[in-house]
Amino acid sequence: MEVIICENSKKAAKLTAKMIANAINEMPNLNLGLATGATMEPVYAELVQMNCSGKVDFAGVRTFNLDEYVGLGPNNKNSYRYYMDSNLFDKINILKSSTHLPDGLALDENKECERYDQLIKKLGGIDLQLLGIGNDGHIGFNEPMSSFASKTRVKVLTPETYKQNSIYFNPPESMPKRAYTMGVGTILNSKQIIMLITGKKKANIAAQAIEGPLTSMVTGSAIQLHQNVTVILDEDASSNLKMKDYYNFAFKNNPKWAKYQ
Ligand code: PGA
Repeated sequence: MEVIICENSKKAAKLTAKMIANAINEMPNLNLGLATGATMEPVYAELVQMNCSGKVDFAGVRTFNLDEYVGLGPNNKNSYRYYMDSNLFDKINILKSSTHLPDGLALDENKECERYDQLIKKLGGIDLQLLGIGNDGHIGFNEPMSSFASKTRVKVLTPETYKQNSIYFNPPESMPKRAYTMGVGTILNSKQIIMLITGKKKANIAAQAIEGPLTSMVTGSAIQLHQNVTVILDEDASSNLKMKDYYNFAFKNNPKWAKYQ
């Protein structure tokens, strides 16, 4: 795992977008795993800008989102399909038919989970997966105690996640209590992972995921099992990390990061 600490959240989002754009430029038909949430909005804004100015081309890219609320369709403003269309897909030159999320309105939940995992497999697996982390340590909607071997399935959300996300719903109680999510195992199968964590509120959970024990109580800690992970944080989110000096030293002295300095 490599950890990069940026001066502020804007720079962290810019660096994340730049890494994604570089991966697409190296592999124009990249299978890109995407995440939702407030943390990702500036990343998508940056990618839109880069696409508009000709710095990255999404024509051959296929995307797979981590999760979707059970019961919400694409026209519901709180669905992740709506979030992705409005923050990214409608503003870049990607083929809509190449963008994939679990279908929140699917009639058979088990079949939908199976379909999603099979689709990822059939299209060659995820090359680069973007991750955030929830206040309870979740990646996707893999709430505490999710198996590290889990595949796509429906999870009941924790009260903490409910509190974190119901502020976006009107009324807040209309937020679904269950969601489709790629499993921790699905996520670990991707070839590369970039996790972005910003804000003081996330400092404690960031330290647990990055430096804490490997535990399904903090599903974000599962990234420690992956061979190719970069975690990008702003100063605020990095404030509880013990090995900060080393991470900064490694970022400055590893030639592979020279183009991002
Ligand atoms: P946030 O959500 O970016 O809105 O904090 C992240 C998550 O819950 O995974």
